Amino acid sequence: MDYEKGLLFDADLQKALIEKFYYADLDQTGAKRLFFDNSGGSLRLKAAVEAKAQAEMLPDCPERFHKQALELNDVVQAGTRDILSYVFGTEKGALMTELTASQTMFHMVELILENIPGTNAVVSVLEHPSSFDAVAYFCKKTGKELRVIPADPATGAVDPDTAASLVDENTCLLSVMSASNVTGAIMDMEAIVRKARQKKSDLYILTDAVQHAPHCALDMELLGVDGANIAPYKFFGVRGCGFAWVSDRVAQLPHRKLLKKDPEVFALGTPTPGNFASMQAVIDYVCQIGAHFSRETDRRSLYRIGMERIHLQERALLYRMLEGTDEMPGLRHIPGVHVYADGLELIHRDLIAAIGIQGMEVSDAVKEYEKRGVIVCDRSNRSMYAKRIVEALGLTGAIRVSPLHCHAVADIDRFLMVTRELVQK
Ligand SMILES: Cc1ncc(COP(=O)(O)O)c(C=O)c1O
Repeated sequence: MDYEKGLLFDADLQKALIEKFYYADLDQTGAKRLFFDNSGGSLRLKAAVEAKAQAEMLPDCPERFHKQALELNDVVQAGTRDILSYVFGTEKGALMTELTASQTMFHMVELILENIPGTNAVVSVLEHPSSFDAVAYFCKKTGKELRVIPADPATGAVDPDTAASLVDENTCLLSVMSASNVTGAIMDMEAIVRKARQKKSDLYILTDAVQHAPHCALDMELLGVDGANIAPYKFFGVRGCGFAWVSDRVAQLPHRKLLKKDPEVFALGTPTPGNFASMQAVIDYVCQIGAHFSRETDRRSLYRIGMERIHLQERALLYRMLEGTDEMPGLRHIPGVHVYADGLELIHRDLIAAIGIQGMEVSDAVKEYEKRGVIVCDRSNRSMYAKRIVEALGLTGAIRVSPLHCHAVADIDRFLMVTRELVQK
């Protein structure tokens, strides 16, 4: 069953979950606030922050052989295995670690464009600058043509046929994000990959999964792409690291490495056990949600079930935010509010909405929300991060609203009440 309108957690579970996050409804001064900018950095899971701090307390180098060092090494090894297996859904390939998700994307694009024959690369106009600029930069450096897939303003997504129409025998890379960080549209990656590979069967394909991973289980093995990245700080975890998965064939490409390490090792220098421990805490949290709904004992299955439930809860919150209730009209029904790129069915959307308020600049609206204790994000074309994307959707800007699965329907209703107040201002 698709649960087109989603499926809410029971109230007790939702309350128990929100307790697991820092500053979920108060800021650090103790003032009440609603944090609806989780796409810019999500609420922090207490266990993830604490796991990072615990590991940072230890002076031991994880590459020594005494007891504590070996334990830290185990944290790195188990973390590597579990991030690949649970978060990216694959037992194959290799893990790339950097300080940010952007760095991993530049690294993956560099490897492919520097090593794979071809005369052009294809990227979607909706990409975050970390992938769009990486493809543009290395196209320029290697003398390749940059081809840009347009977006459909009605859905905020990329059409698989349009994407495939730009691919030919001379394409060395296709890069399309898994979900939009501005509209929440989930790209039909399965069709994009299938149709693109009909044009070139061994095409290298990357996907930026930074915005999709916190909302939905990934399955890179099923998708058959060559690389994907995530940002732990947008995934209930910590800042200061970016993780990417690369396929076996990308892992074997010549890359910067210590000469004596195995060919598929990307880590340069001593690993940071705290980053792996922190991501394990995120995985554990998702598994706990899975265990609430299932008697499964296999951790990978629990992770999948947990992510499926997060996805359903978020869809139910999105439905409430768009449609509202008899007492409280949703965004689609408040006169003076525009929901942009609203054409996709909810089963193809993550919990992100791009909206506008008639007669109000995006930046002013964001300030008005803040005055009323609501944090949302200004995605106007004055921001270099948003300009290309919003203009591709025919907009000058949008207010990005991104709650999280642990929010309650009452939080959505409060946001709607504040929105109604702004419209009536
Ligand atoms: C879709 C997407 N990709 C990549 C990034 C870059 O992440 P980072 O700042 O960790 O490099 C972001 C950050 O906003 C994003 O939204």
